[in-house]
Amino acid sequence: GIPTARAGDFTEIEPALAFVESLGGKCAVKVDGLALGKGVFLRENTDEAKEALIQILENKSFGAAGSRVVIQEFLEGMEVSLHAICDGKKALLFPTSQDHKRAYDGDRGPNTGGMGTYSPAPFLNEEEIQKIGNSILEPWLKGCQAEGIDYRGILYPGIILTQEGPKVLEFNSRFGDPETQVYLPRLKNDLLEIIEASREGRLEDIQLEWEKFACVCVVMASGGYPGKYGKGKIIAGVDQAEAGGNGALKVFVAGAKSSDDGGPWVTSGGRVLGVTAWGKDLETARSKAYQAVNQIHFVDAMWRTDIADKALGSR
Ligand code: GLY
Repeated sequence: GIPTARAGDFTEIEPALAFVESLGGKCAVKVDGLALGKGVFLRENTDEAKEALIQILENKSFGAAGSRVVIQEFLEGMEVSLHAICDGKKALLFPTSQDHKRAYDGDRGPNTGGMGTYSPAPFLNEEEIQKIGNSILEPWLKGCQAEGIDYRGILYPGIILTQEGPKVLEFNSRFGDPETQVYLPRLKNDLLEIIEASREGRLEDIQLEWEKFACVCVVMASGGYPGKYGKGKIIAGVDQAEAGGNGALKVFVAGAKSSDDGGPWVTSGGRVLGVTAWGKDLETARSKAYQAVNQIHFVDAMWRTDIADKALGSR
């Protein structure tokens, strides 16, 4: 089987709390439906877990997405994102990347959709990645086949490297955001060709090839995110930042739009821009990304200043 966290799913508070108790109180409470990556609550004890359960199941703060919760044992370790593209029979693994889920530096504050990423994540060597990937992807593909599911497309398992070995925290059937921002500059193949091969069951003809360089994405978000935030703030400096990147920098636009009168771009969401740079190593890519971040301005912009620190050792 696939190594996963101990977990249960619940629609009622009382049985959910009994399960939390059985885990010793410390747990993750997750909204079962889609929540833009914001539906995970890490709880230290039963009282904290109860608060989250009331918010989700009773106050319905996530609407129908929160009509069921998943409770998982709290796992300690380094989180790593894996991605693979599948064609129903075969899965091709991407290199590793690592997201930064919490809003503030030092992994503090609430969970977000992701505040920044880098690739490769140096905690696993090539052999280990393949081994972990296979231990997850092979049983998963077999399980799909046994259930008559012909899964084609991206599979994105979030894993945590615990002392007992890697365990799966979640499976997403989509590209990660902002993982994708650090994968695409490294991908040498034509993305469309890969997607077509996946759809047509031809992945055995494809060899994924990756640039050796490192890539770092720093998310610039609206102040207040993932809670309430303002919109419509004018964004300045993107062109200048990209020009300064010498072809190794791209600003991916997310929660932003061009203003109605054809004027400047303005903010329209929580995560506004994915400022992504690449270079010969993580240090180079990171300093380039932050240089660009410092050239881009909008009122109340916020970002983490420690993306890739875990890989590089704290500054
Ligand atoms: N990076 C987190 C997600 O895409 O869910």
